[in-house]
Amino acid sequence: MMKALFHYGKSGADGLQYGEIEQTAPASGEVRVRIKTAGLNHRDLFVPDRHEAEAPAVVLGSDGAGVVDAVGAGVDKLKTGDEVIINPALNWEDNSEAPPKGFEILGVPAHGTFAEYINVPAENAVMKPKHLDWQEAGVLALSAMTAYRALFTRGGLKAGMTVFIPGATGGAGTLLLQFAAAAGASVYVTSRSEEKRRAALALGADKAIDSESDWEEALDGEKVDLVIESVGAATFNQSLDQLRRGGTLVAFGASAGDTVDFNLRKFFYGQYNLLGSTMASGEELREMMDFIAQHDIKPVMDKRYDLSEYDAAFARMENAGMMGKIVFDV
Ligand SMILES: NC(=O)c1ccc[n+]([C@@H]2O[C@H](COP(=O)([O-])OP(=O)(O)OC[C@H]3O[C@@H](n4cnc5c(N)ncnc54)[C@H](OP(=O)(O)O)[C@@H]3O)[C@@H](O)[C@H]2O)c1
Repeated sequence: MMKALFHYGKSGADGLQYGEIEQTAPASGEVRVRIKTAGLNHRDLFVPDRHEAEAPAVVLGSDGAGVVDAVGAGVDKLKTGDEVIINPALNWEDNSEAPPKGFEILGVPAHGTFAEYINVPAENAVMKPKHLDWQEAGVLALSAMTAYRALFTRGGLKAGMTVFIPGATGGAGTLLLQFAAAAGASVYVTSRSEEKRRAALALGADKAIDSESDWEEALDGEKVDLVIESVGAATFNQSLDQLRRGGTLVAFGASAGDTVDFNLRKFFYGQYNLLGSTMASGEELREMMDFIAQHDIKPVMDKRYDLSEYDAAFARMENAGMMGKIVFDV
């Protein structure tokens, strides 16, 4: 048995339980990792509403880092004692236009990282970057992979371009900002909090504007090459309005609402490109790891909780209290 945060028996958040759950040996082709730290993502807040009360218990969590503790048959690239981070993109190794059939994100339907142990396919355990400590390594994967693909693979970001990132203070947002600044782009961000706007400027943003202000006025009418949208309905139309003609908006999140109305005529006259993005392949994870090592990028760390304090951590994310990533000690 092992300690874990899992969902079972009741719908929604009432079904969340911190307690004992069965622990198994790794199957052929898998490794078992003893998790040291695990990162919280907005996805973990959505999971209790997606997982049915009657379905078997499932451990939450997509991000984690730890030490290989057992190796299944046929695994020769990893050994007991290796320090690894978990790649939560299951069944998506080579980069492609969209994830292949069978792609899933770890942490529902497969057991996730909010547990003392996890079994994953060996290719989903990658060596921990040396410049990151355990907390930083445990929060990296999902947000950083998503930010990397959205900016570079989908958005085609290059040095000298301008990129606009609404809500650049959460887990994905801070990494988007750090990656874009490191790539030599001009980076404009928004936040509703003055304190977080100051922090974004210190992280490398060229402009940090109030999410609740008039963005056109705040940018003096300047239009941008690329917008990365992860806030959703609350900001989508304002985001689209900041694009230059022929510019690109990449969307990968909808924290503040899934459904948007926008003016189609304005859209096609502007010759805009609207692209969806989600997570990233194992190939992009390796590119991203090289990129962060080259630029000495570390994720911005918010608060650290014991896994048993999940309630407080979930509430902090629900209320958008954090700047950067929330981490659990497991
Ligand atoms: N598709 C994928 O593969 C994928 C991967 C990662 C994340 N995501 C999604 O991307 C989104 C961001 O992820 P995250 O982990 O970075 O989430 P997060 O940490 O919760 O960040 C959300 C950010 O959005 C801003 N925000 C929230 N509500 C807002 C509102 N009503 N108006 C303006 N700004 C608002 C907040 O900015 P301020 O508090 O500073 O104003 C906050 O910084 C989530 O929806 C997540 O599910 C998707």
